[in-house]
Amino acid sequence: MRVTDTSDLWWKTAVFYNLDVETYLDWNDDGVGDLEGLAHRLDHLAELGVTCLWLAPFYPSPQQDNGYDISDYYGVDPRYGHLGDFVEVVRTANDRGMRVIVDLVVNHTSDQHPWFQAARSDPSSRFRDYYQWRDDVPDDQPENMFPDVEDGVWSFDEAAGQYYRHSFYSHQPDLATDRQEVRDEIAKVIGFWLQLGIDGFRVDAVPHLIDTDEGAEHGFLQALRGYVSRRSGNGMMLGEVNLPYDEMVPFFGADDGDELTMQFDFVANQALYLSLARQDATPLATALAARPALARGNQWGNFVRNHDELTLDQLSDDERDEVFEAFAPLESQRIHGRGIVRRLPPMLDGDPRRIRMVYSLMFSTPGAPVLFYGEEIGMGENPAVSGRGAVRTPMQWTDETGGGFSRADADDLVAPLADEGWAPEHVNVSRQRHEPDSMLRFVQDLIRHYRSSPEIGWGELTLLASGHDCVLAHAVVSSTGTLVAVHNFAPDGRSVDLDLSGLLGAAAGDGGDAGADAPRLVDLLAERSTPEAPADDGHHRIELEGYGFRWLRVLRADEKRLV
Ligand code: GLC
Repeated sequence: MRVTDTSDLWWKTAVFYNLDVETYLDWNDDGVGDLEGLAHRLDHLAELGVTCLWLAPFYPSPQQDNGYDISDYYGVDPRYGHLGDFVEVVRTANDRGMRVIVDLVVNHTSDQHPWFQAARSDPSSRFRDYYQWRDDVPDDQPENMFPDVEDGVWSFDEAAGQYYRHSFYSHQPDLATDRQEVRDEIAKVIGFWLQLGIDGFRVDAVPHLIDTDEGAEHGFLQALRGYVSRRSGNGMMLGEVNLPYDEMVPFFGADDGDELTMQFDFVANQALYLSLARQDATPLATALAARPALARGNQWGNFVRNHDELTLDQLSDDERDEVFEAFAPLESQRIHGRGIVRRLPPMLDGDPRRIRMVYSLMFSTPGAPVLFYGEEIGMGENPAVSGRGAVRTPMQWTDETGGGFSRADADDLVAPLADEGWAPEHVNVSRQRHEPDSMLRFVQDLIRHYRSSPEIGWGELTLLASGHDCVLAHAVVSSTGTLVAVHNFAPDGRSVDLDLSGLLGAAAGDGGDAGADAPRLVDLLAERSTPEAPADDGHHRIELEGYGFRWLRVLRADEKRLV
């Protein structure tokens, strides 16, 4: 192992887990999740195999956008505890081998932030210029990110007597991030949380953050990343940039990947849902084939579901309609004309084969997986909760009233639990811990295999011909090894003939692929599996069931890894 690479760039092979303290575990039974509750569930996450927690905003906030409207960058919302509890969480997570990253939401503040309060009420305040003001609304205003809620990005503030800019809700005024004073404030915030022991940030709304009248200001992002790295050798930035691949590339940084460390792969995510709707792997294969190459220190964040709407904004109108028809037939299941407010299992009618196929795919796709809390047990949404809140229901720990999340009265819970077939009595951690064939055990197994297959984080992707549109066959190859994965998007079985001659030659090394030195294949996910040698011509046949999947490790003659 080369010390300089694999041991330092921890995010290359990390397993991320995003949770909101508010909905995770309520330790004092007031109906709201808290940091003390989270601290008591870190063992669940460590057992699952998570290596990095991403904490959604837990800062003081009027909570008009799930905490993405911050009124104090240096504190903890008192409902969740205080800074001491935060430090305990970080310390305990580290002790269990997990890192912690936190949300950095600095494109905007809440309108309740003292900076905005001072700015609006006093034109001569030094905070006035922290925000963006105009006397009138320009004719060519950009579209707001929530176009069905907000008319545009300029709203009039009575107290200020001027219009202020907001890319998101009108209660989230955009900071003037082109000003040095604001940049210094942001740096101070970053420095503060790094000093408390975190290993980086999930950076909110990055394209908006560096957007100026003159265009995107990458120098600022580069400076932030440089600052993070100077303050913490392990520090990283995982950015939210929902754009086509060619427009994402500059956000990694032109100079050897010196801006965002990681970006979520929104393109592959949206293609995944089109593939699922069509039962055809082609859209996903096309997206993955178009993925730009990354500098060594950069990484993709792969995800099935995040905390927002499942946005389909990069699909064409027809493609989006196909996905809507398949998975969100009701208007109430859609939002902003572009996204779905459901979790995966209900969209797939709870079919365990198909659900597992999707997670197997996520964990075997080159990059680092990012789970959203509850995915490990196949949680559903609560359709009665409006908007994005439908997928932000409390974590389901047990089958008790309150789902083991809280003993408070149902009316006092911070958010309603999922109900009907997705209620805690049907879907909960406690039950699944005891069931050998549960989703929880399955995800735990996938994580174990992901972690023992660093080629997935480090390797190069090769798409293989499978002979069937519905079957995605791919390999990831790195100096540590080669993994071949096959996934069937169709409900009926397929016989797949893989030509592995190119890959096996590489795996055999100098000795060629003949005789006893020939590489063999072992099925990592099967209960019992004997390594098999492929045919002499490098072909290997796999019988896949409907929605079936396989992970085959190519065992070199000198392979020392355990399978
Ligand atoms: C990001 C967050 C979303 C939030 C928005 C405004 O898109 O993911 O939840 O509403 O930024 O902060």
